[in-house]
Amino acid sequence: MLVLGIETSCDETGIALYSTASGLLSHALYSQVRMHEEYGGVVPELASRDHIRRALPLTRQVLQQSGLALTDLNAIAYTEGPGLAGALLVGASIATSLGFALQRPVIGVHHLEGHLLAPLLEPRPPEFPFVALLVSGGHTQLMRVDGVGRYTLLGETVDDAAGEAFDKSAKLMGLGYPGGPALAKTAETGQLGRFKLPRPMLHSHDLNFSFSGLKTAVLTASRAQTMDIRMRADLAAEVQEAITEVLAAKSLAALQQTGLQRLVVAGGVGANTRLRARLNLAVSNIGAEVYYPKLEFCTDNGAMIAFAGAMRLKHAQKEYGFGVRPRWDLAQLEAP
Ligand code: KG4
Ligand code: ZN
Repeated sequence: MLVLGIETSCDETGIALYSTASGLLSHALYSQVRMHEEYGGVVPELASRDHIRRALPLTRQVLQQSGLALTDLNAIAYTEGPGLAGALLVGASIATSLGFALQRPVIGVHHLEGHLLAPLLEPRPPEFPFVALLVSGGHTQLMRVDGVGRYTLLGETVDDAAGEAFDKSAKLMGLGYPGGPALAKTAETGQLGRFKLPRPMLHSHDLNFSFSGLKTAVLTASRAQTMDIRMRADLAAEVQEAITEVLAAKSLAALQQTGLQRLVVAGGVGANTRLRARLNLAVSNIGAEVYYPKLEFCTDNGAMIAFAGAMRLKHAQKEYGFGVRPRWDLAQLEAP
């Protein structure tokens, strides 16, 4: 079965073709980063309009790359939520129109399920069950995953997401957008020890997180003195250290609490090399294993949506009324 995946939940248009027989055939991505850069964050209306411009040309591109035609598709998957309502509606309407025109079923995919299953696209995929650390721009969750659609929430952030903490700290420090990669880059030359930042909820004895206090600490630290390049790098390194220390400690605690041996990391913050280094070390110390998607599939992409859609082909419907779910709880999903 050949599934087209369409991702338009935020500021990236991702399109991919996944075959249940041969795996991922092709994928294409258009990032709107340049467009949103001058506003210092995603402008939802501009995002929606740009998805309209990009989605069909990218669809043509992935079909061409694989030597296939629209009529070869067996189903069309799209991100139904969570995300920006207008941006989601673009993907939903294109997917549904294609489905209607071709008389193929359409599947609404949960964006975070896409992230969660992305490591299964790798040549050495993790077996179920595993613990998943989901760290995107809007979510920070630890999940127990017993199979596709079998998700139990172990803990989550009580305020800001880890990605948001990176983004907001970067913005306060004038590092530009998107903040996560910019802060990580600045941190490369920074030295630890000059600033002292909190590790929120590190010792809370549960698997929840809190990151909102960090931006206040960053603001205080950066206001206390005039920041030169050196100090800015040191502060960036310290922010990265604080966030990744808490993420790694809680992931380890989740493995210990569940008795599971496999940790899967998904979502944009999973691209952070310091986080990866910490997790690799922590997990190998207890004889467990950690799995990541390839770097390009950590952040938003169409491949994870095509794949998650393929896992849910049974749910594919030839009903062409559509809606989106800007807010949608992952733990509510059911197994296909
Ligand atoms: O999963 P994602 O692409 O989009 C959402 O579904 O939100 O995650 C985006 C988030 C942003 O907060 C971005 O700053 C962060 O992931 N991010 C990073 C890195 N790359 C992306 N954070 C830290 N280090 C990175 N290298
Ligand atoms: Zn995402």
